[in-house]
Amino acid sequence: MLTRRAFSLSVVTLGLLAATGTAGCEKKTDDLVVGAFLSLSGSDATFGEDTKEGIELAVEELNKAGGIKNKKVRVLYEDDKSQPQEASNKVRQLIDRDNVLAILGEVASSRTMAGGLIANTKKVPLITPSSTAVEVTKDRDYVFRVCFTDDQQGDVAARFVWETLKKKKAGLFYAAQDNYSSGLANSFKDHFKKLGGEIVVDKGYQKNETNFTTYLSELKSKEPEIIFVPVYYNEMVQIARQAKQAGVPGTMFVGGDGWDSHELLDGAGAELEGAYFTNHYAPDVPWPNSASFVAAYKAKYTYKGKPKEPTSLSAQGYDAAKLLFDAMKRTPEVTRENIKTALAETKDFAGATGSLTIDKDHNANKPIVVVQVKGGAFKYTAQLMSK
Ligand code: PHE
Repeated sequence: MLTRRAFSLSVVTLGLLAATGTAGCEKKTDDLVVGAFLSLSGSDATFGEDTKEGIELAVEELNKAGGIKNKKVRVLYEDDKSQPQEASNKVRQLIDRDNVLAILGEVASSRTMAGGLIANTKKVPLITPSSTAVEVTKDRDYVFRVCFTDDQQGDVAARFVWETLKKKKAGLFYAAQDNYSSGLANSFKDHFKKLGGEIVVDKGYQKNETNFTTYLSELKSKEPEIIFVPVYYNEMVQIARQAKQAGVPGTMFVGGDGWDSHELLDGAGAELEGAYFTNHYAPDVPWPNSASFVAAYKAKYTYKGKPKEPTSLSAQGYDAAKLLFDAMKRTPEVTRENIKTALAETKDFAGATGSLTIDKDHNANKPIVVVQVKGGAFKYTAQLMSK
């Protein structure tokens, strides 16, 4: 039996618990909740991690400056383990379980395709920071991107090879079953041929391939002047290392944005010395908002004990989050439908990765950067607009 004193104490304790509980809840329900699905583990883990860092920096800056309509923004992160099926599951969870207002993600086009289908069906606005495959936004009213498309990227890569590198014979090497890799290879092919170039060899490799030596000797035997390899960094590291052994120098390779990772430099920086790739951004790009972003990012994150250079994934994640917040601020009331409308109306948004306007297909028209692998770092070389 409780003594009177013990009884009143427990009432007080319960009261306190209830009070703190409610206070906690109140704060939480008051926040504007956004979801993010990313490859935080698995084969493309640096894509997800880098993007998350960019988003977190944007959230921190926003909340410090007072949030949106006097509310703070909170982002719930989900790891899709670099798998499309998991991407669908995570997007479904963010919508059905967490009731998020909008979604950020993914990096790889194959996973944005999967997650985007769910978000579009459930009428939740989704912004991909960096998925470039053309199909990602096609016929999907609720899906947006803050990056260029692979049609534009292939055009710029082809023009750079033709006009600047002055190469006339190119080879193609790509992951046959991947939306991004095969789509970008095709786009390069079309644009390069239109310019008058010749594709002397066209090779798609199978998923999960790790031994590229047979392919490489076949590529070499067709004597291309350059080989366009629009694959992700993890595979590019293996290809570059095996190419060196096969006597194909790094300067033969030209890539796309999928190369952008610190792990490409760590794993095959030396093998790829002198190679070029198209990208969203470079740390030394001469754009007005880039310098302040790079400074803020370096102050917050470190890599191997030193201030970390942001990859384009971080810059794109930062811009995707900032565009979403900007759209949320522009709504009369922060609802999914209003966010979608505001996103579609975006004009001349000044991002760290250049100024962007969302077009009628929900794509962003932006300059494309050409980056060179030089002395173990990524160096800005040129910027081109797709025609
Ligand atoms: N553009 C790639 C895709 O659509 C993803 C990517 C973006 C990778 C930027 C690296 C850097 O799949």
